[in-house]
Amino acid sequence: MKKTKPLIVANWKMNPDTQDKAKALFLETKRSAEKSPKVKVIVCPPYIYLPELGKLKDKSVILGAQDASTEPAGSFTGEISAIMLKHQGEGYVIIGHSERRAMGESDDLISKKVAMALKTGLKVILCVGENARDGHGEYLHFLREQLIKSLSGVSKSFLKNLIVAYEPVWAIGKTEAEAMTARDLHETSLYLKKVLAEIYGPKIGPAISILYGGSVSYKNAKQLLEEGEVQGLLVGHESLSPRKFEALLQSLN
Ligand code: PGA
Repeated sequence: MKKTKPLIVANWKMNPDTQDKAKALFLETKRSAEKSPKVKVIVCPPYIYLPELGKLKDKSVILGAQDASTEPAGSFTGEISAIMLKHQGEGYVIIGHSERRAMGESDDLISKKVAMALKTGLKVILCVGENARDGHGEYLHFLREQLIKSLSGVSKSFLKNLIVAYEPVWAIGKTEAEAMTARDLHETSLYLKKVLAEIYGPKIGPAISILYGGSVSYKNAKQLLEEGEVQGLLVGHESLSPRKFEALLQSLN
């Protein structure tokens, strides 16, 4: 069987602050991706840079967005719809990132966004993750609930375009020393597959790809991917440093 390439998603968040810097960062990222053909690279910049970066992209890098509205069009000031992204030529969208959840997005809202984006034909990277870990496994209940609720209303027929990104909030934006261990990740990724099997059945559920995000760096990427048994990684701050991101991709190539 052909091994699928690991998916590496660069989440630029609200960076960089000018279009020129975004273009320069994108060109460097593209060069790194070209040197690592065994890895599939997706860059998710702020919306405003998508059209310009779209002109610079080639086969080595795919563009994605960081959010999409629940609605197709209309009076929703400040929103961007999945259909606009689709027309713009973007294939992927991150939905339910913990930083958006912290701004007030509920599981219910997120499930509507996921359903709309999938219906529009985008590939969705749905983020889930607990805020903290406890010794009694409460976080597992939290994760289960969050995953089930964030997928309510998402039917089996759209699952081929769904990816789940596990991002424990406590591990985001730190150093690799504070990231999750590959062993804990393995346990959690198995647990998430179990919950997906519960929702969608034992055949389809566990076939959904799981990514890990939270202080991924060139130092821990390979171990997290291989021992953590995940199909890819979501990279935040290290994707803003061309040198470190190149080293990360190289480590997986
Ligand atoms: P980080 O961010 O790599 O900076 O921890 C990951 C994320 O929030 O997606």
